[in-house]
Amino acid sequence: MRNSWIHVHEGRTARQARVGVADLNEEHYSRGGFFGPVSMLYHGRKPADPVRVEGPISIAVALLGAMTFDDESNPSGLPTEMLANDELTIALSHRAVATPHLVRNVDADTLYFIHEGVGVVATEFGPIEYEPEDLILIPKGTTYRHMPTTPTTAKVVESVAPIEFTEHRQIGRHSPIDFGVLGIPKITEYDWPEQDEWELKLKHGTEITSAFYAELPFDLVGWKGDLFPFKLNLRDIRPLTSERIHLAPSSWSILESASFMCVPFLPMSVVSDPEAEELPTRHRNVDADEVILIRRVNGNPVNALGHFPQGMTHGPAAAERDAYAAVHEPGMQRMLEGLSIDSYRRLRRTPAFEAALPSAKTDRT
Ligand SMILES: [Fe+2]
Repeated sequence: MRNSWIHVHEGRTARQARVGVADLNEEHYSRGGFFGPVSMLYHGRKPADPVRVEGPISIAVALLGAMTFDDESNPSGLPTEMLANDELTIALSHRAVATPHLVRNVDADTLYFIHEGVGVVATEFGPIEYEPEDLILIPKGTTYRHMPTTPTTAKVVESVAPIEFTEHRQIGRHSPIDFGVLGIPKITEYDWPEQDEWELKLKHGTEITSAFYAELPFDLVGWKGDLFPFKLNLRDIRPLTSERIHLAPSSWSILESASFMCVPFLPMSVVSDPEAEELPTRHRNVDADEVILIRRVNGNPVNALGHFPQGMTHGPAAAERDAYAAVHEPGMQRMLEGLSIDSYRRLRRTPAFEAALPSAKTDRT
């Protein structure tokens, strides 16, 4: 992404973006999420949402409680695709019983984000026990079996481009995570009941090929290397914050590929400088469709998947900004918790996403 030291000022602007904007109505217009070329735009009127949107692109929030999941009633079902393009698929799973089969994604890395439930992702490397707010990365080609202990809801991301940790250069090797906190599977002999044959589903896109084995193909006695599944819980992320300026969500990215960044929204203190803007700037995020699984707002559980297409301006509107300014004080906690997948290319909504849309919407991210 091209960057430059040449920043031009025209008309009335804030001296420092995001701080001391007074009566100016600031909008963040940037490439590459929030870390590419940028201009802060200062509007003459207070921010407002459009009174009407016509056409294929709109901000929408699907309610998971209204959904029917493909793997909920059918143990052999797959997670329900919600948004997708040729490089990235974002699906939702709600599974109560173990898959009768094994799975190997031969097209993409798979990232599970556990929303509710506990259980095991049994892999050929060993079992990964999970709980809410676990991220589980299953590399392309790893064989696994999802075995819930309690009904489990998960956001499931498939990325054709390899998923890697986001490099936060110059802040050292122990933040925002110490890699010692990762959950690495240990070799375990699975004591599952004997079966006449074991089905391995090879997933390539939406197509499935089944290979059948006379014996369970999980028989490793050891492994070594840097290609393996693992888990990371959100509570083990120590978010980067600043007392004097609100850091944009790009800086919170923890995993990424050439197609997307994975941005957790974590509990963290708000900015303490009374001149600094705490609420997100209005922004049109021209290079990222934001797809956020919203877990909590103001500490209250939420069960929703929001889609904020690139180019659509969003962020708290005038009334919300005024209400927040009236109560803002140092020590308060940020109010939105969840996990966003920011896709660099436009995502298509599936019929399942459209079917889960209520009339209400939010523009908080
Ligand atoms: Fe946003």
